[in-house]
Amino acid sequence: MGKSNSKNKKPAGKEIIVIGNWKMNPTSAVEAKKLFLDVRKSVSKTERIKVVICPPFVFLESLGKLVSLKNRHFSLGAQDSHFEEKGPRTGEISPTMLRSAGVRTVIIGHSEKRESGETDEAVNKKVLASLKAGLAVVVCVGESNREQSGKHLFVIRHQVRTALRDVSKSDFKKVIIAYEPVWAIGSEAVDVITPRDLHQMSIYIKKVLSETHSSELARSVPVVYGGSVDVGNARSLVFEGCVDGLLLGRASLDVQIFSNILSEIEKGE
Ligand code: PGA
Repeated sequence: MGKSNSKNKKPAGKEIIVIGNWKMNPTSAVEAKKLFLDVRKSVSKTERIKVVICPPFVFLESLGKLVSLKNRHFSLGAQDSHFEEKGPRTGEISPTMLRSAGVRTVIIGHSEKRESGETDEAVNKKVLASLKAGLAVVVCVGESNREQSGKHLFVIRHQVRTALRDVSKSDFKKVIIAYEPVWAIGSEAVDVITPRDLHQMSIYIKKVLSETHSSELARSVPVVYGGSVDVGNARSLVFEGCVDGLLLGRASLDVQIFSNILSEIEKGE
C-alpha cells in the first residue's frame, strides 16, 4: 500500500497511539536494550502510529539515551511515579527523576498497582504531580467485573472523575485515558472485549469527561484500550472499537508480534 493510500484511510488528524508496558520484564539490561532497539527499528517503518515503550525503572536511564527527544513517533515511558518530587520515600521514583532520565510519558493507576492498594486519590495525586513535572500521563481505568446491571459504569465514572480532578484545561493536552478492564488483562484473562462493547465504553468515558469539563475537551482526550490485545484483534479493536490506540502488555515483549500489530494498524480501517 502506497503512502498516500494509507494516509487517505486515516481519519483526519488522527494518530494512533501504541503503548508497550513491559511490566517486570525482561530480566537483564542486555535483553532490554536488544528489545528496545528492535522495537525502535519496527517503529521506523510506521507512518500513523506513535509508540511509547515503558520499561522497568532500572532500564530507563540507559534506554533514554537511545531515544531522540525530537522523535514524535517513538518515545520512552515509565510504569508509575510517586507524587512527590523528592524525600524520604524508600523505593520510590519521582516524576522529576523520570523526566531527567528521558521519560516523556508515565502510566498511572494500572490495575496491578491498584491491586496492591493504590487508591483513586493516590492516582489523582500522581497524575497532578506528573503533569506538573511536564510528563504526559496514561491514566488507567477499568472495572474488575462486568455486570448486567451496568454497575461497572459507575466504577469507571468514579475512577475517571477522581483521577482527573483538578487537572487544568491546558494540561488535558497531555492526558490519555487507557480503558483496561481487569477481567481482560494478562494470562488470567477470562475474555477479550468485543469492539462493540469497547466502542460503547469509549463513548461513555467521553460522556463522563463532557459532564465534568466540556464536550470539546472530551472529544480531544485520546482513549486507548488495553487487555489481551494480539495480532488477531488489534485492528478491529482500534477501528471498530473506535479508540485512539492500544496499551499492550505481553504483546510488547515479542518484537515480531509487536511489529505485526503495528502493521495491522497501519492498514487502517
Ligand atoms: P496484556 O496486559 O496485554 O498482557 O493483557 C495489558 C496491561 O496490563 O496493560
